[in-house]
Amino acid sequence: MAEQTLDLRDLPKAQAYTQLKAQVRAVLDGVDDDVCAMATMSCLLHHAFGHLWTGFYRVVVPGQLLRVGPYQGTLGCLEIRFGKGVCGTAASTDTTQVVQDVHAFPGHITCDARSASEIVVPVHGKNHELIAVLDIDSEHEGAFDEVDREGLESLMRWFSGER
Ligand code: SME
Repeated sequence: MAEQTLDLRDLPKAQAYTQLKAQVRAVLDGVDDDVCAMATMSCLLHHAFGHLWTGFYRVVVPGQLLRVGPYQGTLGCLEIRFGKGVCGTAASTDTTQVVQDVHAFPGHITCDARSASEIVVPVHGKNHELIAVLDIDSEHEGAFDEVDREGLESLMRWFSGER
């Protein structure tokens, strides 16, 4: 396989997401296995942006429970209830959460004390059902913005439908 992990931190973010998406599509072309795809996206995202934690929490009991899935980074919490913390809020409301300061987020779950900001994006299956959330944590406050939201939501739309 010719593709390698890319470090995209020197690029303007919108451009970085365009390149990342192209790479993910090239590597995962024709791959119809969710865990394989989630593992590969975690790896490419993590190395592209160098954040603290990058990965997925999968829906194991719809409407109730998330369990950690493929990820890169330090040890993640194993399970999160819908409605709890940033991931559980993204899952229960089915909306992206962009949190500039995790310490100001009611009920934030601390897996790694260095985490300062995060973004969590809902992930849907082929029938539009919620199957996971993508969680990225940074050790810097205010690391994520609308460009990240658009870039990651676009990547997850591709994962959900166009593969
Ligand atoms: N901070 C998250 C928990 C997951 S970890 O950070 C990997 C939250 O509040 O949902």
